[in-house]
Amino acid sequence: MPNTAELRRTVKRQLRRATVWSMARRGDLVGQLMLHERLDDPYPLYEKMRARGPVYRSRMGLHAVTSHELCTRVLRDPAFARRNEEPQRVTPPGEQGPSADSNFLQEELSDHMRWRRLVAPAFRPRKIVEYRRRTEEVAHRLLDAALAKDEFDLVTDFASPLPITVISELLGLADVDVELFAHYGLITGKAIDGIRSTRQANEFRTAVRELDELFAGLVRKRRAEPGDDLVSELLKPQGDQALPEREIVGTCQLLLTAGFETTTNLVSNTVLRLQEDLVQWEKLVDDPDLAPMAAEESLRYDPPVQYSIRVAREEFEADGRTLPPDTVLMLVLGGANRDPDVFTDPHSFDITRSDATSHLAFLSGAHYCVGAPLARMEADVALKVLVERVPGLRMTGRPVRRPTAALRGLLHLPATA
Ligand code: HEM
Repeated sequence: MPNTAELRRTVKRQLRRATVWSMARRGDLVGQLMLHERLDDPYPLYEKMRARGPVYRSRMGLHAVTSHELCTRVLRDPAFARRNEEPQRVTPPGEQGPSADSNFLQEELSDHMRWRRLVAPAFRPRKIVEYRRRTEEVAHRLLDAALAKDEFDLVTDFASPLPITVISELLGLADVDVELFAHYGLITGKAIDGIRSTRQANEFRTAVRELDELFAGLVRKRRAEPGDDLVSELLKPQGDQALPEREIVGTCQLLLTAGFETTTNLVSNTVLRLQEDLVQWEKLVDDPDLAPMAAEESLRYDPPVQYSIRVAREEFEADGRTLPPDTVLMLVLGGANRDPDVFTDPHSFDITRSDATSHLAFLSGAHYCVGAPLARMEADVALKVLVERVPGLRMTGRPVRRPTAALRGLLHLPATA
């Protein structure tokens, strides 16, 4: 029997779902974005928002920003926080995102800058060169297995296990259950859109608890027996600073969940787009060294993270208006990346364009993605290995999209050599 608190939460979730649906029906563009049937192509909605000005005021209590200039300004200004004290208010449209329940988002770590300094060495260029060799080995091994089949799934056979294996090894986890981790990724990724049912809430809590246990065990093991991995590094005090165990466990969860779902989506989104535009695919086949540019253009054109939420700590000016403290901003990265004030011919996908790197796919400012160098290297390796070994790659069926709005990517992409 559900208890009263659980019943209350269920009613609240249902009310919120009804609100999203009714707002969407009444033309609210953020409401429409949250309806799953719009997930195939949210870009026309972003253009409708842009047509109303750089800040679109949704009746769902959010201001959606599609202007590149304004997104950048907000991201670089400490007067905007990642979220306020009430996560429900800023995780549209469901109940609450991961932050409410877990310790794996960095705000709960005591000092963000100190934390970044401790984690950053794992992503320095020298380290990325070391990881690259292993990433190439894993990519080839996965492709050997995929190509042994008549038809394979580019996501589940390649784009998903590749970053899962890389980040797990980087953290010091050997022989992980790739399917189980992909399942964790799906659950935590879905929760960013908001938790919409009791079942989803339970699944989310279970995933977080299991990951907590896994990493707490790993931290104990590495304390007793240090290895050549990130957890062992994090356990070493830096000068007079050391991360408490709880923060190391939280960091592992954050790196794991932030580090593979997004990269899987980058590789799958890029391959899908190249397959939809075979002229671009052939360009890459002819010159595999264009792979980093193809990944960059994909990050601009179809970013794996579509939006990020910020809350104003104080009053601010935007679009000729004064907005009050606690204004919740939905920074629409997918929209900012197609801002015609910054990108020439923004809706065309061109792997040789020169302005692609101005995208905001990894954000900007204090929370700029720590793992960007790793993600870029993995995408480069994945695309190069694919075009070099499978130049005749073709899709054999319709891609299946992930049922998420904040994270954009694919669950399946059937393909053949
Ligand atoms: C294509 C792949 C990736 C994309 C598109 C991506 C995107 C992002 C974005 C948009 C944020 C900011 C979130 C926010 O503040 O709202 C972020 C933060 C972060 N990302 Fe990534 N990411 C990717 C890969 C990775 C990888 C491979 C790792 C680590 C292994 C990683 C670790 C992190 C961490 C730790 C943060 C938090 C940084 C902070 O708050 O200071 N990401 N990422």
